[in-house]
Amino acid sequence: MVSYKELGLVNTKEMFAKAVKGGYAIPAFNFNTMEQMQAIVQAAVETKSPVIMQVSKGARNYANATILRYMAQGAVEYAKELGCPNPQIVLHLDHGDTFELCKDCIDMGFSSVMIDGSSLPYEENIALAKEVVDYAHKYDVTVEAELGVLAGVEDEVSSAVSHYTKPEEVIDFSQRTGCDSLAISIGTSHGAYKFTPAQCTRDPKTGKLVPPPLAFDILHEIEKKLPGFPIVLHGSSSVPQDEVDTINKYGGKLPDAVGIPEEQLREASKSAVCKINIDSDSRLAMTAAIRKYLAENPGHFDPRQYLKPARENMKKMYIHKIVNVLGSNDKL
Ligand code: G3H
Ligand code: 13P
Ligand code: ZN
Repeated sequence: MVSYKELGLVNTKEMFAKAVKGGYAIPAFNFNTMEQMQAIVQAAVETKSPVIMQVSKGARNYANATILRYMAQGAVEYAKELGCPNPQIVLHLDHGDTFELCKDCIDMGFSSVMIDGSSLPYEENIALAKEVVDYAHKYDVTVEAELGVLAGVEDEVSSAVSHYTKPEEVIDFSQRTGCDSLAISIGTSHGAYKFTPAQCTRDPKTGKLVPPPLAFDILHEIEKKLPGFPIVLHGSSSVPQDEVDTINKYGGKLPDAVGIPEEQLREASKSAVCKINIDSDSRLAMTAAIRKYLAENPGHFDPRQYLKPARENMKKMYIHKIVNVLGSNDKL
């Protein structure tokens, strides 16, 4: 058993309380590779932002759970080396689907876990979340639970339909589970295809898809029921069209990829939404830079040559989100 406190990590409690009060959101960036980890830490240090580094089950399968945990420990030391004496870094399990997976992460030094029972019947979701909360709280680890189901299918996070969170359930759910934050469904979804073209309108000037707005009415109703309670938004990539265009220009094929407009995320950040999950935008930034580099330098084959611009492009994106969308800069 390793406590996250020994690794210099923090849980989400104080961070979320400050974010809700201050009207900003903490970035929760997924990481699977060293380059993503480095870009996240560089961006957080340069902007003086707290940050959540999250690991999915898919990331654990890809990179190995132990390696990712040591990378997060390395992230704390790297932040210090970059000139941040007291970094606020959370190591979070994204979409944990069993008690055993959450326990395994807690036991190896995670400071926060998500138990995603959102596709289970209501009472089963509560029972599973409560079991995780009871274990996690013994070690001062914070727990995110989810109520309402996101649309979209992506790797191991899958659900074919969208069921918005029912505001009338949130008080009962949060009280009975004892969770520290609540992920809700208000129209976001995972991946780079968040809406079908039929659900969108088209901008007459650019021909680009304009997605329908998020259900802010539901968010506001939830805020009224749970004043000051930390709310989480999954599926919050914006799918930047310049990155999609670069990918398509250099041999990719992502027709009609569309995300959540940044103005809406900016608005959500000012509410009780205090954690915003972004993964796909990092994938797009990395892929766009690599495709462009390799197309322009067909004779290069040293991965460092194309991973360097990929890392720089991800860092630029992370900084943009922190400063221009979530507003978590200058909070350390
Ligand atoms: O919520 C989904 C995240 O983007 C993680 O995706 O399961 O492919 O690692 P993944
Ligand atoms: P995106 O696919 O929109 O980046 O969402 C990521 C996410 O919700 C991770 O849990
Ligand atoms: Zn998610």
